[in-house]
Amino acid sequence: MAAVNTTLQNAKRVIFLGCGTSWHAGLVGEYLFEELAGIPSEVEYASEFRYRSPIIEPGTVVFAISQSGETADTLAAIREARRHGAPVFGICNVVGSSIARETDAGVFLHAGPEIGVASTKAFTSQITVLFMLALKMGRSRRVGAGRGRELVMALRDIPQKIARILASRERIETIAHRYKDSQNFLYLGRGLNFPVALEGALKLKEISYVHAEGYPAAEMKHGPIALIDRDMPVVFIATHDGTYEKVLSNIEEVRARGGQVIVIATEGDTEIAKKATEVLYVPETDPLLTPLLTVIPLQLLSYYIALHRGCDVDQPRNLAKSVTVE
Ligand code: G6P
Repeated sequence: MAAVNTTLQNAKRVIFLGCGTSWHAGLVGEYLFEELAGIPSEVEYASEFRYRSPIIEPGTVVFAISQSGETADTLAAIREARRHGAPVFGICNVVGSSIARETDAGVFLHAGPEIGVASTKAFTSQITVLFMLALKMGRSRRVGAGRGRELVMALRDIPQKIARILASRERIETIAHRYKDSQNFLYLGRGLNFPVALEGALKLKEISYVHAEGYPAAEMKHGPIALIDRDMPVVFIATHDGTYEKVLSNIEEVRARGGQVIVIATEGDTEIAKKATEVLYVPETDPLLTPLLTVIPLQLLSYYIALHRGCDVDQPRNLAKSVTVE
């Protein structure tokens, strides 16, 4: 344990490896580690990592993120990182899995068995673990005791806030019913909610077979804006944080082009309702924790769209829970 602590405390750079939803969690981790711990961080698709010439200097710490702990690409990337001498920590859900065994140390999510092919509770658990790791590393670097306590308290409030979002599922179902026949969706967010936009789009593709793309909201004007018309619902994540005003102007750009706008906003933000076609509210939390809340209505939206389209939400076609081939 002492050796693990020393390795983490001395880390000069962090690399997150993962696939699919676990890669999205790694992207959240990148923002959190930079913000809280001030450590240069990057996230890599495990499947690409070993086919580049990764530069792994002394002081680089690798975190391999995997729900199943069996994903072949992630395992191969771990072996590559270890060949370069990097310490590799696992963040897995399945105890005793190959990745848990092949990493130097790690954390189990303890999310319980995840049965549905599309990852949901593993995603929120991965983010929670990454948040706690970033906070732990940040406390010895740049996060003071007061701010640390505040963040821990905010984290403790998350489960009851998620319960409140789950209680609004009827409204989410109504919106899902309204948009169930749309053929294309765009998901936009900034900062920590950019990975959530990617994850929202992935969930919709996976279980509803509807084409969806996630983008950083500001990148919309470099391409996706050309696609916007009345038939293209655009899902924005526009919670109260440093990018709120900018996202508002992106919403206006979409509205000006006739796009239907579904917004995930912070409770109490009545102004945004004037700009959006639909609003789904999430309770306020520390901006660093918003992904844990904003992803829930997106998971539910995909779930209900899939149900209305008659899709099997647990066993979507062509997908496997655990991909053990490269
Ligand atoms: C498959 C699953 C996804 C998952 C990905 C990575 O594609 O269908 O839900 O995100 O593998 O899996 P892992 O178990 O490594 O997190």
